[in-house]
Amino acid sequence: MRLAPSVLSADFAALGEDVRKVAAAGADWIHVDVMDGRFVPNISIGLPVVAALKRVSPVPLDVHLMIVEPERYVDQFVEAGAASLSVHVEATDHLHRLVHRIRQLGARPGVAINPATSLDTLAEIAPDLDIVILMSVNPGFGGQAFIERSYDRLRRLRDFLDRAGSQALITVDGGVDPGRAEAVVAAGGDVLVAGAAVFAAADPAAAMADLRAAGTRGWQARGAR
Ligand code: DX5
Ligand code: ZN
Repeated sequence: MRLAPSVLSADFAALGEDVRKVAAAGADWIHVDVMDGRFVPNISIGLPVVAALKRVSPVPLDVHLMIVEPERYVDQFVEAGAASLSVHVEATDHLHRLVHRIRQLGARPGVAINPATSLDTLAEIAPDLDIVILMSVNPGFGGQAFIERSYDRLRRLRDFLDRAGSQALITVDGGVDPGRAEAVVAAGGDVLVAGAAVFAAADPAAAMADLRAAGTRGWQARGAR
């Protein structure tokens, strides 16, 4: 079980400090949300910020592209420092080419899927992925409420990947907090993204510890099945 705090809810005027803080508190990856104002109705951060984060982060950068025509930018994001790079299944007609390009560039390829998109869209690409990001909110903003149906989708996705012989990790992204972490991991989540639950908390390190404890309980529940 891995924790990937999302800097979308960090203090953008003190990003380096916030990243070091959560890394010291046990972050496995730093999740970086790139939004273009077209695929999602928000504009967040881009290439120069990823490159700057790469200089300060002691842990790998997990970059989530919420942009149209991601094929135009994957080379540059890997170059800027993305260790893993995920594109949305809804954002490209050439997923196979793109996933293989990301791997060829030396990064771990991932695909993100929106709440209303059928899991079947991943059938042909699943064996080639290192990561599936299951969106548990509609992407675009931090601090939104977790969509309850995501638990069911998560169980079905876990099943489906296991049957496809895919080793891909499932990342759960959106509305994850310490109160949900156990159930999310028990249902099949391997990586927890948390933005507001960490960076809007009075004590981010304590929030990280709570997420870790709850996630570990979920992991044990999963192993026991
Ligand atoms: C949503 C982003 C998420 C977001 C998660 O569009 O992809 O990564 O930052 O933030 P919280 O945990 O606040 O829902
Ligand atoms: Zn994200």
